[in-house]
Amino acid sequence: MRSMSLKESYNVRLEPVGIEMDVEEDETVLEAAFRQGVSLMHGCKEGQCASCKSILLAGEIELKKYSTFALNDMEREQDHILLCRTLAYSDLEIELLSYDEELLSRSIPVKDFAGVVTGITRLTHDMRLLEVAIDQPLKFWAGQYADITLPEPGITRSFSMANPPGETQTLAFIIKKYPDGAFSAQLDGGIDIGAELRLRGPFGTCFRREDRDGPLILVGGGSGMSPLWSILQDHIDSGEQRPVRLFYGARTADDLFYLDEIAALGRRIADFAFIPALSDADGDTAWSGERGMIHEVMGAYLNDLDLDGEGDAYACGPPPMIDAAIPILQLGGIESDRIYFDKFTPATG
Ligand SMILES: Cc1cc2nc3c(=O)[nH]c(=O)nc-3n(C[C@H](O)[C@H](O)[C@H](O)COP(=O)(O)OP(=O)(O)OC[C@H]3O[C@@H](n4cnc5c(N)ncnc54)[C@H](O)[C@@H]3O)c2cc1C
Ligand code: FES
Repeated sequence: MRSMSLKESYNVRLEPVGIEMDVEEDETVLEAAFRQGVSLMHGCKEGQCASCKSILLAGEIELKKYSTFALNDMEREQDHILLCRTLAYSDLEIELLSYDEELLSRSIPVKDFAGVVTGITRLTHDMRLLEVAIDQPLKFWAGQYADITLPEPGITRSFSMANPPGETQTLAFIIKKYPDGAFSAQLDGGIDIGAELRLRGPFGTCFRREDRDGPLILVGGGSGMSPLWSILQDHIDSGEQRPVRLFYGARTADDLFYLDEIAALGRRIADFAFIPALSDADGDTAWSGERGMIHEVMGAYLNDLDLDGEGDAYACGPPPMIDAAIPILQLGGIESDRIYFDKFTPATG
């Protein structure tokens, strides 16, 4: 049905799930879904990651700018589209290439929040913990993220909540600082306690699935610890009893943080191991842990777990790390549809 607003609005039918919704002329199909509480597969929301790739069965559309890594020319010729880039010019019929019944049933409508910075803590030389108090509770699942906007100079970036979902009004984010990062470099002197922010969320499909069997595998690199930290705490709060393995890739020992906190959480899990691996520690004779890329190190540990299709994996962090980790997780015995990931793709604007 057409909406009564002055904006032109079209009907979108999503197959094979049979969901219908409106899309307004100036919003993408994915934005329309968020507005109406329909949780479709997505990642970056910026045409970079391909998570929202679908097929246009009928209707007229325009695609906003996207990366050909996410949608190549041949796919485009075969009516593939990215929902986060799709503007409607008529009623549409779309076939979802991937969808998740659990995601659809656990949709949380996206809302806007006003926030105030309550803490910026140094975790390592380039990692900061940003804490933000918001004006109303944010309901989210462990592993999800929010878009945070710095009003001055008007920069929006995605950051994953590091706190467990039970903490709804003070949020924490583990953020890697890039020297020339428009947002992250502001964390050293640019913004301070009391600074006002805007937040929008929750977003993301890499959230903790409940009541599953088999081990819980968490794998991250750099600021990928942020959503994993929330998932780990939420898992403990849930009281579920599963073996947990936390794999974490860093360059040197100076990049590691939360070691005492990880050990303390680990003591609350019957079968837990934290496996950090350093990729650039050749000269570090004091380091007695694993060396090499985290995905390579992970393979041997997964073999020892003898997974055989059981277990869930959550992988968060730099896109190359995720791309390398997924086949290792599959080879290690985790079903493809039980591997959840968030690629921290760089922003496009
Ligand atoms: C779903 C999602 C969740 C995310 N969650 C988090 C999180 O919890 N914590 C967190 O720290 N970040 C997270 N990110 C990344 C974050 O949104 C920003 O992209 C990142 O903080 C850089 O923003 P910036 O404005 O500081 O840098 P920009 O101004 O955007 O980039 C400046 C320069 O920094 C470098 N750079 C920026 N991003 C990257 C990158 N990903 N890899 C390599 N070099 C880069 C490049 O040199 C670039 O030219 C997430 C991203 C996505 C898509
Ligand atoms: S390409 Fe659409 S969500 Fe990433």
